[in-house]
Amino acid sequence: METIPCDFTIFGVLGDLSQRNLLPSLYQLEKADLLHPETRVIGVARHDLSQEAFIEEIRGKLQAFVREPLETEPTERLLAKMRYVLVNLDVPEEYKRLVGLVDPQQRVLVSYLSVAPTLFGAICTGLEQAGLVTPNTRVVLEKPIGRNLATSQEINDLVARVFSERQVYRIDHYLGKETVMNLLALRFANSIFTTNWDHNTIDHVQITVAEEVGIGSRWGYFDQAGQLRDMVQNHLMQILTLVAMEPPVNLHDDSLRNEKLKVLKALRPITAKNIDKRVVRGQYGPGFIKGKAVPGYLEEHGGHPASSTETFVAIRVDIDNWRWAGVPFYLRTGKAMACKRSEVVINYKPLPHNIFFNSSRSLPANKLIIRLQPDEGVEIEMLNKVPGLSDGLRLQRTMLDLSFSEAFGKERIAGAYERLILEVMQGKQALFICREEVESSWHWIDSIQAAWAKTNEPPKPYPAGSWGPVASVALLARDEREWEE
Ligand code: BG6
Repeated sequence: METIPCDFTIFGVLGDLSQRNLLPSLYQLEKADLLHPETRVIGVARHDLSQEAFIEEIRGKLQAFVREPLETEPTERLLAKMRYVLVNLDVPEEYKRLVGLVDPQQRVLVSYLSVAPTLFGAICTGLEQAGLVTPNTRVVLEKPIGRNLATSQEINDLVARVFSERQVYRIDHYLGKETVMNLLALRFANSIFTTNWDHNTIDHVQITVAEEVGIGSRWGYFDQAGQLRDMVQNHLMQILTLVAMEPPVNLHDDSLRNEKLKVLKALRPITAKNIDKRVVRGQYGPGFIKGKAVPGYLEEHGGHPASSTETFVAIRVDIDNWRWAGVPFYLRTGKAMACKRSEVVINYKPLPHNIFFNSSRSLPANKLIIRLQPDEGVEIEMLNKVPGLSDGLRLQRTMLDLSFSEAFGKERIAGAYERLILEVMQGKQALFICREEVESSWHWIDSIQAAWAKTNEPPKPYPAGSWGPVASVALLARDEREWEE
């Protein structure tokens, strides 16, 4: 792959996201020779650190967060690329300290804003006033972009005063995941799925993103957000749009994004009138995960007992367009659930007539199960004849199972941030969210938040280590369906 020299600036280099995801990804890219030898990585933070102390700090972070023993050569190559600069992000004059370390006249300058969104405006202005905004400058925005439509518009407006939409890269790390991208390959590179992907053949779709971990030390942030904003507004909406969109004409930036946007615009609003039949909100209480007792959400470190923030959401989504008329999409996501599992299950319609009635009273419909993580793969559940001379034509459910690790070897699957960092360096926007997408998604999420505010119902409890509140089972049972377990 061709690489280009780039000045990659991380604002908030010592923060959680940077140490857990960005620095380990840069290490992996360096190890795979995907960073140009002349690329520079500039870390920006408010701490008073010498260059030497910074390098030692980063070395420690790499040791702690790269999930394999560090190799000396790539580590030293990466560290040699790194520079530190102290900038108080709300003081515009201090951005001049970056001048000389970066050169946006001659090279690509990526500014990765790994800080609270309240600082996005100040950073964009600071870069502009320091003369660092040229057509070569790109800015990467981390989520959350606002907490509703109005605040996301404010943030986007502040950024847009300095950068054109072509220069803005809004991250949803699910779009960098290998298996999420494979949804495109599965749908548009295989004729069996291009023709069996609409209301004629599909009964309903289930999308589950279950996390085993609870909130842990993130209470402060999470309690302000809740699972709907933290996971549904972005990650589940992205999976939903990739499953539901029309074929794009190609994979260029706008082709893909425009098709996803059409799906978001076709989502049927949820209102106070129908929310009790469409949405389930839950909050985990104490329970057991893998045999170990774990605290409930309210007892987590920093928690307060009066919180009614949801840690689980299940939603019946209807897409009002030609392809999906009458096909519900059921989404569910939660923290402190039975296990970590993300998957899409396409449930096909049952057959109109059963010619095997004498031996099989009913014919379970086919299912396509796309396992996003962990144990990535694709399964098709189908019926086969049980071999043998007796019993007539007896049928049994069987699995056609493609495990990615078996098919493609045990090679390490690249992390989402690695792919996204490369894409932004190369100036490709297809895997980033455009402004209209973020805003359409917030528009729909706001309708749910407003309905919750009106009905004012507390979240339903579920024990940590379970699959959510009983009401989530009832959500599907009402439609005579059940979750894939
Ligand atoms: C983040 C959320 O965006 O995604 C977290 O803020 C969540 O709450 C995380 O845990 C899940 O990401 P992944 O890649 O582990 O599925």
